[in-house]
Order: sequence, then C-alpha cells, then structure tokens
Amino acid sequence: MFQLKNKFPENFLWGGATAANQIEGGSDVGGKGLSVADVYIFDPKMPKENWTDQWHMMTHKQVEEAQNPNSTKYYPKRYGIDFYHNYKEDIALFADMGFKVYRMSLAWTRIFPNGDELEPNEEGLAFYERVFDELNKHGIEPLVSLSHYEMPLHLATEYGGWVNRKVIDFYVRFATTVFKRYKDKVKYWVTFNEINCVKHHPWTSIGVVEENHPHIEQAKFQGAHHQFVASALAIKAWKEINPEVKVGCMISYQLLVPYSCDPDDIQKTVEKQRESLFFTDVQARGYYPAYTARMLAERNVVLETQPEDEQIMRENPVDFVSFSYYMSSAVSAHPENLEGAVGNLITGGVENPYLPKSEWGWQIDPKGLRSALNQLYDRYQKPLFIAENGLGAVDVVEEDGKINDDYRIDYLREHIKQIKEAIKDGVDVFGYTSWGCIDMISASTSQMSKRYGYIYVDQDDMGRGTKRRIKKKSFDWYKNVIASNGEQLD
Ligand code: BG6
Repeated sequence: MFQLKNKFPENFLWGGATAANQIEGGSDVGGKGLSVADVYIFDPKMPKENWTDQWHMMTHKQVEEAQNPNSTKYYPKRYGIDFYHNYKEDIALFADMGFKVYRMSLAWTRIFPNGDELEPNEEGLAFYERVFDELNKHGIEPLVSLSHYEMPLHLATEYGGWVNRKVIDFYVRFATTVFKRYKDKVKYWVTFNEINCVKHHPWTSIGVVEENHPHIEQAKFQGAHHQFVASALAIKAWKEINPEVKVGCMISYQLLVPYSCDPDDIQKTVEKQRESLFFTDVQARGYYPAYTARMLAERNVVLETQPEDEQIMRENPVDFVSFSYYMSSAVSAHPENLEGAVGNLITGGVENPYLPKSEWGWQIDPKGLRSALNQLYDRYQKPLFIAENGLGAVDVVEEDGKINDDYRIDYLREHIKQIKEAIKDGVDVFGYTSWGCIDMISASTSQMSKRYGYIYVDQDDMGRGTKRRIKKKSFDWYKNVIASNGEQLD
C-alpha cells in the first residue's frame, strides 16, 4: 500500500529552459513585430543599482523612444544570442547533454506581429515548425510557454494591454492558431510564464504603463483576471482539438518564511505568500479562493467580469502546476524595528540571515525548494514541474579556454538533491528544466554578463563578440546527472 520512492521516476523530464525574447534575436526578420520586451535598453553608463528600474516601471518616454527607428539606444532583447539563426547547433548541444525536454516560448509577434491581425504570419509559424522538427529529430520533448513576457507592443500601446478585455480574443486566436498547427508536435503547454509577477512588472506582464493608471492595483488585478479567462479559453480550445494535451500554469515561487515566531510575522507571511499562491489557486482549482474578496477590498479593487467568466474558469483548470524557484525570503511585519536587517530588494521581504546570496542578491535556499514542492503538492494534488531554477553569475573564460563554473554546479546539485527529497516525501514532480541552459539576455537587468547556462556564449553586454558557443564545466556535469537519472550528482 505504501511505496517509498527513493529515486527520480524513470521517465523524469530533465532539460533546460529559455524564452524567445531572451535568445532568439532576429527581431527584424521573418516579418516579426516589436514586443514589450524590445523596449528594454541596456546602458552601461547607468548606475548598476538602477538597471532594474525599467523592469519594475516602464515610462511613456522610453516606450516612445523605442518606437523611433532613429533611436541610438541598445535594445538587447531584439538581438538575443541569435538562436533564430543558430537553433540547429544549439539544439544539438542540448541533445549532447541528453535533454529529454526543452522548455521554450513562442514569440507572439513572430506569428501575429501586431497581435490584432486576423491571419497569422506564415514565416513565423514555419520557423517554430522547424525548431520542433529539430527537437523531435533529437528525441527532445518541447514544453512550450505561449506567452513569456513578450506581448505585442501594439497591443500595449494601442489597446492599453491586458486591462482591455479585447486582448483575450487576440490571445485566444494566437493560442488556437499555434495549437492547430503544432498539435502533433507539442504535448506540453504553459499558458503564461510567471503569471503572478504582474505585481513586480506590469509592463512586461500585462503591457501597462503605470503613468496611465493612478490606481495601479486595479489595473494589475483586472489584467490578471483577463489572463485567467484567456488561459481557460485556450485550454478549452486545445482540449477540443486534442483531449490528450497537458496544460500547465506557471508562477514564480519564492518561498516566504516568517522572520521570527512573532504571530504578526507569521500572519504577514501567510498574506504575502498568498499574493503568489492566489494565481495557482485560481488556475489549478478553476475558481477564485475564499480570501479573494478581502484581498480585493483591502486594495480598493473592483473587478469587472462577465457572467460567463466563472464557468469558463471552473470548467478549464490546468492539468499541472509549474513554477520557477530561485530563492526564498523572510517576512517581517515590522521591518522598521529590526536592527541590522537588510531588505530583500527582489521579494520586498527581509534577508534571511541563515542564507548566502548570489552576486545579484538572490538568496540561495535549496531546502526551500523541497518545502515549495511539498506546499504546492499538498495544496493542489496535481503533478508539478520545475520550470526554472538556476544561478545567475559572472563566468570567466580561463587562459586555457575553460569555464570552471563550480559555483553553478554546487547550486544546481543542492537543489536537485532537495527535489529527490521531495519525491521521497511523496510529491509528484515530473520534470526539471534549469533556467538558461544556454547564456542569454537577462530578463530583469538586460545584461548578457548575468549568465545561467551550461553553454557559454561569447557575447558582452553590448552585444559584441563572436557568439561562439563554449561548453562550461557544468555541461559535462549535467550530462552525467541526466544520464544517471539524478543519481550521480558529484
Ligand atoms: C524568471 C523569468 O523570472 O527568471 C526568466 O521567467 C528570467 O525570463 C529568469 O530570465 C532569471 O531572471 P534574470 O533577471 O536573472 O534573467
């Protein structure tokens, strides 16, 4: 009756993850339009501490400048690492590592350049067909995020982004078009990447410039509601075409722990954690959780909904829950009273004094991954997929041409150990795609030098370099992890 699981399941999906806007480049080929990601600049003259400002709050001025063909600014996500032209070589390297799965995303603007066209762009559809065929040739299963931080710029500037209900129809058209085309090539889909991150970056997530919305919380929740409905409608359409398809939701899960056992810290942690779990609650269960009414009321948010929304969501929950996990954070109800406590800039919490952190201040907590897996499984009893996990670091090419990224190996090893612990705890986790299997443009800072990959790309923050791919030390390490199905981690 009770069977202890001591190993990764035999068919565990090992692999890596990327996003189209961070790797593809080719923004001016194949009929592609501009997306919200193409507006982010990289400017080395800007003080380092301001590099993520645009990520958290995009301004009209910058959006306008990005649309000016004579702009002299550098927009790194338009160039990526040129996966568009190198996909065959890159996929061959993934295959060399033994990938079973490759998590990637589609650039919406390659298929509907402005987002509101009635007919898709054939060149864009054909590109992804070639990518899927290449993966198939190597026996790699694609897991595809339909929307990963790159809605068409036109939908943001002309329609006001996801706050406008019309965007639901455009998204569903996009979803249906690609699904009809790739139904025999892609089995696993994710409707929105890190859907909960609208709280950190409304521009990237829902195409909203804060200046337009004095009540930004209202805009964020309204945009999220429309994404919930859109996701449910996409699932409905896909299941009608192929009932076997597996669709997941995806959140950024930063495990939050109380800074102390003060009951106020504990209550605050529950509330903060719910700001993320709210999204999986809706998408995994198919309805808004009981705490929604208070959550909205306390933020003065009044959602505009349509009578059919509830039923659409209820009838179309996701099949699996996927998430990114990079760090954890402590939460204090009264951070102003803490002597010597350091604010955690990423999570808005407080740094946990027990944990080390990366060069970018992300606190490293492998055991937190086990807790996260257990929490999510206890809550939903649905299969879990770790869609992102990894260490952003500066890598050095030694004189002998080698890249000895032992720090990355350590990070990944410790996290994988904890996945195994969670499997032993009884959690159903069916795959792991570490973030940035190949170096690419950072989402939050637009740097190239914040590297996550097993494969080094010879390119600097301003896009200069040969783009040559070099295997890092972690490449062979991960190859061995996959070959031994997670048994050999040293
Ligand atoms: C996740 C995103 O939040 O974190 C990725 O889904 C992103 O797109 C990754 O690249 C790492 O973040 P960053 O800012 O270091 O690239």
